Amino acid sequence: MSPDFAGTPDRRGTDSTKWARYAPDVLPMWVADMDVAVAPPIAAALAERLQHPVFGYAAVPDRVRQVIADRMATRYGWAVSPEDVVLLPGVVPGFNMAARALVPAGGAVHYHAPAYPPIRAVAAHWGLRDAPLPVEAGAGAVMARDDVFLLCNPHNPSGHAFTRPELEALAQACLSAGAWIIADEIHCDLLFDGRRHVPIASLSPEIAARTVTLMSPGKAFNIAGLKIAFAIIQDAALRDRFQACRLGMVDQGSGFGLLAMEAAFTQCDAWLAALIPQLQANRDHAVQQLQRLPGLRVAAPEATFLAWLDLREAGLGPDPARVLLERGRVALNAGPDFGAPGFARLNFGCSRESLDEGIARIAACIPS
Ligand SMILES: Cc1ncc(COP(=O)(O)O)c(C=O)c1O
Repeated sequence: MSPDFAGTPDRRGTDSTKWARYAPDVLPMWVADMDVAVAPPIAAALAERLQHPVFGYAAVPDRVRQVIADRMATRYGWAVSPEDVVLLPGVVPGFNMAARALVPAGGAVHYHAPAYPPIRAVAAHWGLRDAPLPVEAGAGAVMARDDVFLLCNPHNPSGHAFTRPELEALAQACLSAGAWIIADEIHCDLLFDGRRHVPIASLSPEIAARTVTLMSPGKAFNIAGLKIAFAIIQDAALRDRFQACRLGMVDQGSGFGLLAMEAAFTQCDAWLAALIPQLQANRDHAVQQLQRLPGLRVAAPEATFLAWLDLREAGLGPDPARVLLERGRVALNAGPDFGAPGFARLNFGCSRESLDEGIARIAACIPS
């Protein structure tokens, strides 16, 4: 049971966000899903459900919460109760609900920059103060009581996987200030070079009591379109506050998503274990090739299937992705959307053939 990037059918014509946005001659290497078929048990679980032709509102079975709690214990040594698990249709609604629930008027949303665009948008959604700090600054935020630190670990777009000491320093800074933690850990199953993910809430009960953790099978098992995610909130009062911020608008996720997640978390770890070395090989290949291009700098990401390209010296102006799209017919995410002019983000969760084609198109745009 191994992921097969080369054997995955062409995604054109499947109404995929990644493949439908641009003209047919553009090679898409942007939005964060992979060009790979799901693990067979996920496809089988969905096919079996299709045998019953009614698709009304789905209930969340108790066993799903148990599956999630068991997974936290086995993968991260984190003791979580099924009651701590709150099902959601996505991590983005989850961090918005959490910010709404936790931060009073006038409070600030701190986060590491550059940042995933929906993280940059949170403060403005809820009338809060936007407080980015460079990812290199680690725990260096100046926080007030009831501010929130919206941690993205592993970090999109830099690919940094925070170490235990880094997380301890950040958590300590939040506790000392009386600030909350929202932990977007959506990329937690995609760490390279033998690294192990550490959920920040697993560090201590005191930290867990101040933290809303958000995870999803969407990235690692490539089921982002099935709309399923979850929060883990171990403090009951905090969980109630969070639930109240569904505001009647955010449901518990789709029935297909629940089924696919259960299959992913119970039957697909061999597939995931085989995925990591393939992504790591793509990463190494991409970094090696891209580093040769004049004016392009890229560090090997420690996690995620995303590479963060510094093109400030490459002569492509403040929005290199735009030039690459127009001249090179290759679509990357634009650095300015992450608050970083001169940068672009490349998705290497694709076949080696696509990766090489994408790199060749980038190379063709860079003046030597
Ligand atoms: C850091 C991060 N958080 C959240 C999301 C999206 O989460 P969801 O689709 O579950 O809302 C992404 C997708 O790229 C992401 O990179």
